[in-house]
Amino acid sequence: MLYDGCFMTRGSFSRRQFVLKAANGAIGLAAAQLLPRTVWAAPEPNSVAGAAAAHGILAGCAVNGPGLATDADFRRLVAAQAAIVVAEREMKWRDLRPTPETFDYTAADRLMSFAQQNGMLVRGHNLCWHEALPVWFEATVTRDNAAQFLTDHIHNVTTHFAGRIHSWDVVNEAINVGDGRRDGLRNSPWLRFLGPGYIDMAFRAARAGDAHALLTYNDYGIEADDAKAARKRDAVLHLIKTMKKRGTPIDAVGIQSHLRVPETYGSGLRRFIRDAHKLGLQAFVTELDVDDSHVPGSFAERDRAVAEVYSSYLDLVLSEGVRVIVTWGITDRYSWLTNQHPRPDGKPARGLPFDDNLQPVDAFNAMLGSFRRLPESPSRA
Ligand code: XIL
Repeated sequence: MLYDGCFMTRGSFSRRQFVLKAANGAIGLAAAQLLPRTVWAAPEPNSVAGAAAAHGILAGCAVNGPGLATDADFRRLVAAQAAIVVAEREMKWRDLRPTPETFDYTAADRLMSFAQQNGMLVRGHNLCWHEALPVWFEATVTRDNAAQFLTDHIHNVTTHFAGRIHSWDVVNEAINVGDGRRDGLRNSPWLRFLGPGYIDMAFRAARAGDAHALLTYNDYGIEADDAKAARKRDAVLHLIKTMKKRGTPIDAVGIQSHLRVPETYGSGLRRFIRDAHKLGLQAFVTELDVDDSHVPGSFAERDRAVAEVYSSYLDLVLSEGVRVIVTWGITDRYSWLTNQHPRPDGKPARGLPFDDNLQPVDAFNAMLGSFRRLPESPSRA
């Protein structure tokens, strides 16, 4: 069975208009990218991507570079489960920039070829961040040359991949309310060198390099129903509102969605998504996983708790019209959670739809369940 694409993009490919009927009854028009039919085979209906696609959702995952290079079982799993992929590390500054003068696209291109061979779309992550900067950055980049470095980098990377990227995370994690500024901006090297204007500069450079990718502002900590997340949501909304007002090219907001048990998600996030939509932006879930490092018990108990978060969270965002769902990895074999949030009992993380033996866990069924509670996609061929 072959499948007609239905996913929102500014794509340069041949395009069609599809009516997407959102779960809340609202009708939205989405420009659709039609990948060559011979390339884009339908994902299996009982896969994450297949169940999602049947309901108008683009779903996929971050891909671990070493896993992609060495682990054939992992490659097969990703190819079977994802309609869109994103490099976990390989498109970040540190990986792309061995020296101030050079770019090394070897690992990023490997992901791109893998995606093209398997008919998947690709997200670009990311063009401007305060982390994953190369070791030479500190001794090389100054107030005087920072604008040149930022725009040269973005120009080189976006033109290298131009026409092949569904969406770019142009600026990642620029808000950190705890840094004490009224506008909530993070005290990052970019802010220190260039002031708040670095954000617009990055988006404009990205649009100049790739006229078609959806340009995304991506951040974490905006999901939960608590005061801290509410403050961060306000700061992110303020940022994207002022960007729109200034005419900065921005198409989407990425809600990273590194979730935690126990934590609740509800009306605050709903309002945030609605506000983003009112500004004319799409909202993507870009890095979904669930940290269960504080849940004691057996794998079965932990899996149930994690799956409940997947179900309720996905039901919430999907009912608000989010149409792109990307998990941060697909298997616990390559989950950043195991290192990032180690458990007191030393056991591995269980925060993704497949465990470290590449077997589906409750979170997998939870994802399929949430997709299937949506109406069938009218865009299906
Ligand atoms: C993480 C990767 O998963 C790790 O392997 C790496 O060591 C650090 O970065 N938010 C982001 C991602 O935007 O780029 C981060 O990825 C996870 C948090």
